[in-house]
Amino acid sequence: MVNDPTTQAQSRYRAVLAGTGSAVPKKILTNEDFTTFLDTSDEWITSRTGIKVRHIADDEDTTATLAAEASRKALADAGMDATEIELIITATITPEMVFPATACFVQDMIGAVNAWAFDISAACSGFVYALSIAQQFIISGRYKSALVIGAETLSRITDYTDRGSCILFGDGAGAAIVKAAESGSMGLMYSTSFSDGRGWTSLNCLAYGSRYPVGKPLADPKMVYMNIQGREIYHLAVRRIVELVEECLEKCHLDIEQIKMFIPHQMNARIIESVGKRLKFSDEQIFINIDKYGNTSAASIPIALDECRRLGKIQQGDIILLVSFGGGLTWGAHVIQL
Ligand code: ACO
Repeated sequence: MVNDPTTQAQSRYRAVLAGTGSAVPKKILTNEDFTTFLDTSDEWITSRTGIKVRHIADDEDTTATLAAEASRKALADAGMDATEIELIITATITPEMVFPATACFVQDMIGAVNAWAFDISAACSGFVYALSIAQQFIISGRYKSALVIGAETLSRITDYTDRGSCILFGDGAGAAIVKAAESGSMGLMYSTSFSDGRGWTSLNCLAYGSRYPVGKPLADPKMVYMNIQGREIYHLAVRRIVELVEECLEKCHLDIEQIKMFIPHQMNARIIESVGKRLKFSDEQIFINIDKYGNTSAASIPIALDECRRLGKIQQGDIILLVSFGGGLTWGAHVIQL
């Protein structure tokens, strides 16, 4: 799906970012902690991934409680009341329950009684996809305000005996308020999204769904955990992210210097640095916070976006680029003027 500058320009409404918020559990897991139960080291994890610590859900934390906390902060940032929200989309692969949707739990927790709420599943691209959906409803004039959330408790589907994957993941949530505006900044200028279901074997969690339901013995008890083909994903991610950035720059007639901040899915610092180098972004243009949170899948981009704003690294009028790649396979990007 492509929302291009022409579509945006033809519409009476622009979809603009009005507020952001994020939340992570209090409990943290350091690289040193892993050395107490795995054959690994801080040196290996840091040099291969850039990760130092990740936040891990405690018993009282769930995907919806983290999502609700991030949402309340985003609402406060936008100066809005929850009752003004007309649409809630939660992107997650670790939902509160099989059903109802996590977005419905969030709706209840924050009191967004006037919203239409639903979830989407697009793994690490979830937030980018959800933002595109919200954008469509805003520029069509159907809704004036949307709450877009990426939230995960990946620790609940992580195999802590697999040293090749468990060191990567963390829990958290990020949220953004998207509003309709008739003038001012360009807002969500361009978005592009892709899927390739043939790549489902590279990144998945096999059970429990209709193929491997509860009650039917699993061939391998580890099928309840995330399974990743790290090497394969690494190379594909670099290629796809480079293509996405090139497409965004070309369609929006932008030079790389005009991008104030490149905010990619925090998958691995080496992937981000390698992409940054190929595209000739300066170090100041690339936002990396994976050292503090690990890979939080759908939550990673909105957490990074919120942190970037709160640190004052991006301001009103700046153009930013959000880019994702993840399970599905899925990938996508947004060019946004704040
Ligand atoms: N500590 C020490 N050694 C380790 C560890 C560890 N934690 N993990 C793996 N190793 C070893 C391996 O056993 C292997 O040893 P061997 O050569 O003796 O067999 C060696 O290190 C190299 O292993 P690789 O898997 O080839 O390491 P690589 O450099 O590819 O790094 C990593 C692995 C970090 C997973 C990398 O491939 C990566 O980041 N890939 C992309 C991550 C990804 O898929 N993210 C998406 C996740 S899904 C989602 O977001 C929902």
